[in-house]
Amino acid sequence: MIADLPVGLRQSGALEVRDKFETISGGHVLDVGTQTGDFIKTLMIVLSNYHSFTGIDISEDDLKKAKENLKDAPVNFVVMNAEKMTFQDSYFDTVCMSYSLHHLENIDIVLAEMYRVLKPGGYFIIQEMYSDGAQAPAQIVDRDVHHLDVKIDTLLGIPHFETLTRQKMKDLINRIGLSNVDVFESSWSVKCLFCEDVRECQNPRRADNIEFILKEIDEDLEKICTHPSYDELRKEGDSLKERVRDYGSAAASVMYFFGKK
Ligand SMILES: C[S@@+](CC[C@H](N)C(=O)[O-])C[C@H]1O[C@@H](n2cnc3c(N)ncnc32)[C@H](O)[C@@H]1O
Repeated sequence: MIADLPVGLRQSGALEVRDKFETISGGHVLDVGTQTGDFIKTLMIVLSNYHSFTGIDISEDDLKKAKENLKDAPVNFVVMNAEKMTFQDSYFDTVCMSYSLHHLENIDIVLAEMYRVLKPGGYFIIQEMYSDGAQAPAQIVDRDVHHLDVKIDTLLGIPHFETLTRQKMKDLINRIGLSNVDVFESSWSVKCLFCEDVRECQNPRRADNIEFILKEIDEDLEKICTHPSYDELRKEGDSLKERVRDYGSAAASVMYFFGKK
């Protein structure tokens, strides 16, 4: 962990989440919706120990990036739809998912599959941003930029949904049938505890971050530049860009669930 954490991060709730991770011996770990492997990297730092990781994603292109990102690490990457995993029942000691709930077309089916492949007594871990609660104006801007991208992906037929509320997530997790569920909320992600850039991230008006978000809005809109809804969404994008310039942008707050099968 980096020394001299900024006060905002120290008070965010992320330290409590890290402490919880540090009590967990991961064994054989499954990460669902791995994308570029970012969460696996964090788990390698925060879990008390582990034997191996398996990362699955429906997107072959994303897994190529993950392979590149984690090329010397003990990770098995498999292109697979999490709605229908090919693993045997009770195969993994730990199953987890990060920032992927709102990308799933059939959330309950995926959560039930994750439960099926988890050993009795194993940990089921979810990390996901949430939309409600007392978030800073810069976080609300970030959420609305995300929601513009959701509208665009929906027009393109790509499953992508608005950021979930905390209650909606609790309802989903309650239906899995886990025991001993611990819930944490943090205004910063646990990975920030290990990021050298964190002091700069404290400032939502940081120039390079603002440039990044403005570019992201343009790139999102570019995906539908020939669509009949383009002009309307362009207007929404331009007004979001004004808000980014006024308030800056900061990542949404995060919810963590740790339950046992
Ligand atoms: C926002 S990304 C995940 C980010 C990553 N876990 C992290 O923490 O950095 C969501 C991922 O879920 C994947 N995904 C969506 N539906 C899926 C499904 N049914 N099965 C497997 N992966 C899926 C997408 O391809 C995408 O890579």
